[in-house]
Amino acid sequence: MDFTGRRIWLIGASAGIGAALARALAGRGAQLVLSARDGDALAALARECGSARVLPLDLARAGSLDDAVRALAAEAPLDAVICTAALYDPGRVAELDPARAEAMVRVNLLGTLDVARLCPPLLRDGGQLVLFGSVAGYLGLPGGQPYSATKAAVNNLAESLAAELAPRVDVRLVCPGFVETRLTAKNRFAMPAILSPEAAAQAVLHGMGRPGFEIHFPRRFTLGMKLLRLLPYALSLRLTRRLG
Ligand SMILES: NC(=O)c1ccc[n+]([C@@H]2O[C@H](COP(=O)([O-])OP(=O)(O)OC[C@H]3O[C@@H](n4cnc5c(N)ncnc54)[C@H](OP(=O)(O)O)[C@@H]3O)[C@@H](O)[C@H]2O)c1
Repeated sequence: MDFTGRRIWLIGASAGIGAALARALAGRGAQLVLSARDGDALAALARECGSARVLPLDLARAGSLDDAVRALAAEAPLDAVICTAALYDPGRVAELDPARAEAMVRVNLLGTLDVARLCPPLLRDGGQLVLFGSVAGYLGLPGGQPYSATKAAVNNLAESLAAELAPRVDVRLVCPGFVETRLTAKNRFAMPAILSPEAAAQAVLHGMGRPGFEIHFPRRFTLGMKLLRLLPYALSLRLTRRLG
């Protein structure tokens, strides 16, 4: 896909896959709006990207996304809104901090739902709404609980939206395997087929340029996870129990 001159809003742009997407899209001539909570990180990234606009927001704060949407509503329509924003805290269920669990649900699920509720009117006809679920949402994995549950919900939410918003909005679901970011730096286990954020960004842009709904990568990992999901629970749970 030719991204030259495309107006794209990245929510979750200050780090990880979002920041890598910003760099890749800027390199391909897109006009970017960069959002996340960390305004300093966004400003530094915008300088790297050239003429990107910085619009800090907090998906966990009531009214914050609404304000940003109002600011963009007065401008030319967007070609895509990409939301990578999420929180992650692995651990055993008995050790869960309820406040952190609530924040994960707030940002990962309700934040994504707010993006889906408020952003479509900003898109041109046929524009893309790109939401980040995860292979962690295919099947619950030990140590993942609220994160995996929110990602299963986002996978499901994107399916609903793809049917409900078509054909005006082209909804895409991104399900990465492991990507080396501050998010996965919290993991204390081996992460097979892990990708760099740059490789992940290229896979997302490649997927956005092709027809289809789900963008999942790397296939050598994600296809195995899809197969696991298809197995009867008697088998799949026996396998995932070993991961714990
Ligand atoms: N890394 C992986 O292996 C992997 C695998 C599967 C799926 N994913 C999904 O891919 C997406 C990107 O992950 P990543 O690894 O790039 O994570 P990351 O490096 O931690 O980046 C997450 C981004 O979300 C933003 N964010 C967090 N809370 C926010 C809030 N309340 N309001 C607005 N922005 C907020 C962060 O910026 P601020 O802190 O500045 O707000 C940051 O820019 C996530 O949806 C994740 O679930 C990642």
